[in-house]
Amino acid sequence: MNFNNPKLIFKDIPSGKVGWQSPSNIALVKYWGKTGIQIPANPSLSFTLSKSLTKTIVEFFPVSEKTSNIDFHFEGELNNKFGEKTRNFFDSMNEIFPFINQLDFRISTKNTFPHSAGIASSASGMSAVALALCEIERRYFDTLSTEEEFFQKASFVARLGSGSACRSIYGGLVSWGEIEGYERTSNLFGCKLPVNIDPVFNNFHDSILIVDSGQKKVSSTIGHGLMNSNPFSAERFKQANNNIASLIEIIGNGDLEHFVSIVESEALTLHAMMMTSNPYFLLMKPNTISIINSIWEFRKETGINACFTLDAGPNIHLLHPEENKKEVRGFINNELLKYTINNTVIHDRVGSGPEKIE
Ligand code: DP6
Repeated sequence: MNFNNPKLIFKDIPSGKVGWQSPSNIALVKYWGKTGIQIPANPSLSFTLSKSLTKTIVEFFPVSEKTSNIDFHFEGELNNKFGEKTRNFFDSMNEIFPFINQLDFRISTKNTFPHSAGIASSASGMSAVALALCEIERRYFDTLSTEEEFFQKASFVARLGSGSACRSIYGGLVSWGEIEGYERTSNLFGCKLPVNIDPVFNNFHDSILIVDSGQKKVSSTIGHGLMNSNPFSAERFKQANNNIASLIEIIGNGDLEHFVSIVESEALTLHAMMMTSNPYFLLMKPNTISIINSIWEFRKETGINACFTLDAGPNIHLLHPEENKKEVRGFINNELLKYTINNTVIHDRVGSGPEKIE
């Protein structure tokens, strides 16, 4: 597919409005390390979530001055920091969406999860904006006429905004990055793997335990960059490739014990990479470790295949099958809430992907 479509020649675009809501996602095999223009150092695989969403409305008007202007409102308030980030992002896409230059934008976004929850919102936020831009293209040009083209371009564009965002374009289990033996996978966009999925993974739950709601300590761009000089990175990238291959098999056969061991190892390896970078950093908090130990104990006592994963932060994602929801909720309430900030837990689950806001 040609993402810089020559059909996108100048055309008058009237004022209008588009809206998309897009979910966050949680990686099972982590993307950590990149080269060039947002090319991942290894393939990754994630569950798209259901409840943790960004809702974005993009209003557009023919430019009123010489250059295109962006007003960015977050949770109802003008946000110049996000506005500037979006401006830079839009400026980098002159060839992908030539119409950007002829429009002023008013972008309004809100998250369904509390801002203080410390959930990374770049995946949901960037994917929603990418979908909105593709929606403008689809409405006014003779392009993106099939669903496949539409979502593939949205994923391509979302990746340029934030790597992990390209996986939020699709529901369920989504991969990003070339995987040996899977021709449709690409470093340029996310993909629904054409593999058999055991039903247990179709409604997996993710209860997000908020241990710390502070600002990110390290920007992901800097974190990824440190992998270039990390002495263990080559092994790590190999391991991620092996883990994806194993997980693809596990996803087909529903072997939860094996699933748990790979997912937890991925989370700890991600943090091990941060600890072994130069400069090094440590993003887990004492309560993160307390929760991990409790989960291990719970699993040993009950035999329930609940496991944890982590983003580049201290909050725990407690993954578990639908059939164990009741016991896990009891465990969270009795044993884990005490380690969270103000008893904050977000009970999310695997979701079906973004939706257009009419
Ligand atoms: C640890 O997608 O936030 O969550 O491409 O620089 O925006 P940028 O990075 P980002 O990195 C996410 C890293 C991760 C793992 C993952 O989601 O795969």
